[in-house]
Amino acid sequence: MKDSIRVIDSIQEMREYRSMIYETKNIGFVPTMGYLHEGHLSLVEQSNRESDITIVSIYVNPSQFGTNEDLLTYPRDIDRDLELLSKYDVDAVFYPSSEEMYPEGYSTWVEVDGLSNKFCGASRPGHFKGVTTIVSKLINIIRPLYIYMGEKDFQQIAVLKKMVEDLDYGLYIRPCPIVREKDGLAMSSRNAYLSPEERINALCLYEAQLMAKDMIYKGERDIHAIITKMNRHITSKGGKIDYIEFVEPDSLEIKKQLEDNIRVLMAAYIGSTRLIDNFEITV
Ligand code: PAJ
Repeated sequence: MKDSIRVIDSIQEMREYRSMIYETKNIGFVPTMGYLHEGHLSLVEQSNRESDITIVSIYVNPSQFGTNEDLLTYPRDIDRDLELLSKYDVDAVFYPSSEEMYPEGYSTWVEVDGLSNKFCGASRPGHFKGVTTIVSKLINIIRPLYIYMGEKDFQQIAVLKKMVEDLDYGLYIRPCPIVREKDGLAMSSRNAYLSPEERINALCLYEAQLMAKDMIYKGERDIHAIITKMNRHITSKGGKIDYIEFVEPDSLEIKKQLEDNIRVLMAAYIGSTRLIDNFEITV
């Protein structure tokens, strides 16, 4: 519990702060785009448990939004975020400006081939290139040992793990479980876009998961049949499916046969809000 959090808004100050931390201390880093909820805070808690120092970044990264996406309307409330973080053991919040992160003439990008182009990457071209670039920059500025990330964004974890491995960053991505609302909807800053009616319908993603698990429990082994039923349920609630796929959790290769250690990834529009969710399957 901290009375007031150290907020650092320049790269230079962040570097100076970082250089004051003893090399023997483990730094846990929680990158976010703010408008924090319990999902984000669970990552902070995990960092508090495992790391000596916890640094949170709050930055709505323009390069990961497509031209027709919600960059301008993305919810922001830095005062509320700092208030929420003050209840945890946060050593510093990095809150940089776009002028500093992407100065005029900025032209360097980090891209993970393959993994970045499927599923969310197919529907949101350039999205993961923006994510890998900003996370690379944040790693270079903060130099953490652990990065805490939510399984809510399962593909994001797979892409970043590959980047960290391929570029020899020498740090560990720590995946943390999805935090859900009481009724099962995965927490997301974008849930704020849902009208009351859409909020009720949005539950269909979670309901479809329960249906799939129930079918498997009862012996169904045909992935196609399971996807069809999930699809039908989501569509019946007015949802528009982007994708539902059964994949291997690291390579994200699509699975044709049901087996243990499969992750089901899903994305659907409820009204104009795009929601994602996923779950693990055990057979
Ligand atoms: P953002 O959407 O703010 O999410 C920040 C972190 O919180 C991510 O690791 C995300 O997976 C995690 N998170 C979000 N909702 C969660 C939930 N319901 N349960 C558990 N964890 C949850 O993801 C981003 O920001 C950006 O792409 C970022 C990595 C910061 C790069 O800009």
